[in-house]
Amino acid sequence: MKRTATLISPEEIALQREYCTRILEMNQPLPEKPLAFVDTYGCQQNEADSERLRGYLDEMGYGFTQDENAAAVIIINTCAVREHAELRVLGNVGALTHTKRKNPNQIICLCGCMMQEAHMAEKIKQSFRHVDLVFGPHALWRFPEFLWRIHTRRGRIFETTDDPGSIAEGIPVVRQNGVKAWVSVMYGCNNFCTYCVVPFVRGRERSRAPGVILDEIRELAAAGYKEITLLGQNVNSYGKDLEENVDFAWLLERANEVEGEFLLRFMTSHPKDASQGLFETMARCEKVAPQLHLPVQAGNDRVLKAMNRGYTSAGYLDLVSRLRALIPNIVLTSDIIVGFPGETTEEFEDTLEILKRVEFDALFTFIYSPRQGTPAAKMDDPASKEEKAANFQRLIDLQNEISARKHAAYVGKTVRCLIDGTSEDPRNNLSARTAGNRLVHVSGDPSLVGSYRDVTITHANTWALFGELRSTEPMPAET
Ligand code: 5AD
Ligand code: SF4
Repeated sequence: MKRTATLISPEEIALQREYCTRILEMNQPLPEKPLAFVDTYGCQQNEADSERLRGYLDEMGYGFTQDENAAAVIIINTCAVREHAELRVLGNVGALTHTKRKNPNQIICLCGCMMQEAHMAEKIKQSFRHVDLVFGPHALWRFPEFLWRIHTRRGRIFETTDDPGSIAEGIPVVRQNGVKAWVSVMYGCNNFCTYCVVPFVRGRERSRAPGVILDEIRELAAAGYKEITLLGQNVNSYGKDLEENVDFAWLLERANEVEGEFLLRFMTSHPKDASQGLFETMARCEKVAPQLHLPVQAGNDRVLKAMNRGYTSAGYLDLVSRLRALIPNIVLTSDIIVGFPGETTEEFEDTLEILKRVEFDALFTFIYSPRQGTPAAKMDDPASKEEKAANFQRLIDLQNEISARKHAAYVGKTVRCLIDGTSEDPRNNLSARTAGNRLVHVSGDPSLVGSYRDVTITHANTWALFGELRSTEPMPAET
């Protein structure tokens, strides 16, 4: 198939970087470096987008702060997947009227998926008049131009036109973490699960060219990154829109060939597109972590069909058993929605059944949230809030028991972990991750962050493992 996505031309990106230079020239004479606060909600794709916004801001001469009172520019990168996240954003944006009153020159920007929803952009326009700039994910690459226009004209800007989506390369990036990095391999989603707003706000699936992805991975590996996560709403459809005859398994194999000591992860995989070829590649490639996030969403076939998921519970279980035959120690996680419109408690029991059959290591659990414009929002939803809440609690209780049991099995074992950060807890001042991405708390020298170490697991609970670093010193000779 021919490449269908529009590639933003290098000239257009160069023009955006010229706007960065103009703003830099404005900022440089200031007595103190102006600060920007970038607040991110939602998924890793949003985190990756925020890293690009920080890249632009850095080029414009901004420093960074977490304090909205100290910020000359505030960007809230929003999520539209559930109502809860939207309400949090609206609450926080409302509170910014106070910071703006104290600092009338403050520039407040909203971007991300929520802004691509027409009714939300309208709400901001009418009721949040302290917001200066609103743009959706499709217009992110034009942020410098928007900010320049705000600086020079002080009018409000709303850039939220609907778009099938494009690909913009060459945007600078400031990464949040020096140990782990995100690399987007594709954008958008074509699946139209009936509950999900993502295909409406992030446009159609479009893959980045393999060459640019592999160059980025090479750069990250050379810079010493220890964990690289390939991102896409549905990575398993990577390449379908490219001229080259490539797929995700092929890309993973090429990424595995990149030199360096790092682990590769990826998310999200849609079960309907998870192929035997992908599993075989995962099993073969030593840098690919023994871990898979494979959202099942529900266990009942009627519900799965109404969700437009494209597989049955038997099909899902078959995938899991084929995967485990190839990678017995695979760490499996999933997403579950409770209370999809029309789901009865009896049908929900099938979700519990899937949990018992698969025994996921951990779950991300959600109560269904109606999203305006999606087919599910128009479906009858007779179950009461109380019934959904009770089912949700049963789901959590069962999963907690499974996670605790799975974690307990690590106790006494020594596992290789990436020390990935520090924490405030004086007893366990370091955090680490197993190859399967389970969280481990340990104590040790903060200089160890960014290195792989053997950790002996001493105890565990539902959410995490606790361990002791094995000494890297040679053992004393026996006498
Ligand atoms: N309500 C509840 N959960 C949702 N998700 C997506 N849309 C909704 C919705 N409308 C969940 C799915 C998805 C995860 C990222 O968010 O489980 O896999
Ligand atoms: Fe939403 Fe389904 Fe696409 Fe995931 S695969 S982003 S749940 S539509």
